[in-house]
Amino acid sequence: MLVTATEMLKKAKAGHYAVGHFNINNLEWTKSILLTAQELESPVILGVSEGAGKYMGGFEVVSAMVRALDKSLGITVPVALHLDHGSYDGCYKCIKAGFTSIMFDGSHFDIDENVAKTTELVHAAHQLGLSIEAEVGGIGGEEDGVVSMGECADPEECAKITALGVDMLAAGIGNIHGVYPEGWPGLRFDVLDDIQKKTGAMPLVLHGGTGIPDEMVKKAITLGVSKVNVNTECQLVFAEATRKYVEAGKDLEGKGFDPRKLLAPGTEAIKAKVKEKILLFGSDGKAFN
Ligand code: 13P
Repeated sequence: MLVTATEMLKKAKAGHYAVGHFNINNLEWTKSILLTAQELESPVILGVSEGAGKYMGGFEVVSAMVRALDKSLGITVPVALHLDHGSYDGCYKCIKAGFTSIMFDGSHFDIDENVAKTTELVHAAHQLGLSIEAEVGGIGGEEDGVVSMGECADPEECAKITALGVDMLAAGIGNIHGVYPEGWPGLRFDVLDDIQKKTGAMPLVLHGGTGIPDEMVKKAITLGVSKVNVNTECQLVFAEATRKYVEAGKDLEGKGFDPRKLLAPGTEAIKAKVKEKILLFGSDGKAFN
C-alpha cells in the first residue's frame, strides 16, 4: 500500500524504532525489498536518487513499476516511494510522477536559500498530500557523483528548518555515504542530542547507514532517529553474491546464464540484508499497529 512517510515515521519516533529506507535501482531490488518488508510486517521506504531514477527510465517509470509491483505482489504493509537527495527541479518531477514522498537536499545552499526553497517545496508537497524531508549539514562521501565533505549540522539551523513544517529532517552528525574510511571517529551523539532537544517530535533521518556499527545505530534510534537510509550495503552483497556465482562457473552450467538465474543469488542476498536491517531497526511487526 503506497502511503506518505509521515505517519509511519511519527509512529516510529513515538515507538523508539526506525523505518528502513532502502534505495532501489532495478526490478529485482524493488521486489526483494517489498517482499521482505511484507514478510516481516514492516513499513518500508523505497528511496530513489535522481541518478537511479534516470537509470530506470525516469521517475514516471519508477512510480508505475512500484505501484504495479505493490499490487501484483499483494503488498499490504505501508510503502513510501521517496525521492532521495532531490534537487529543486527533481522534487517537482517526483511530485508530478506520483511519488508519495520527496526530499529536498538544500544542504549546499546557505541557510536563507535553503529556508526559502524548502518553504516553497513544503507547501507544494503538502498541497498534494506528500511528505517531505529536508537536510541540514552535508552528509560526507560520494553519491551519484556528488561529493560532499561530511559536516555536523547546526542545531539552531535544524530548529529553523523544522519550523517550516517538514515531515522528517536529515541532519549531518559525522555520517558518510558509502563505506566508512579507516579511522572514522563515529557518530557525534552529542550533536544528535542537541538537535533532538531543539527539534522535539521531528523524526530525524540517519543517512549513510552502510557500515555504522549496530550499537551506534541503536543508540541513534534512542536519540530520535526514526529513518535509517541504506544503499551501499545492498549493492555490496548483491555484487558479492553475483561474483561468487560467476566465479563458480554456474553461468556456464546449463542455462545458468539466464538473467533470472544469474541475478537470483544477488536477489536473495539483498533480501537477507534488508531483513537484517529491519530487525536491527526494530520496525518488524509494526506495519499494522
Ligand atoms: P549508504 O550508501 O552509505 O548506505 O547511504 C545511503 C543513503 O544515505 C541514501 O541517502
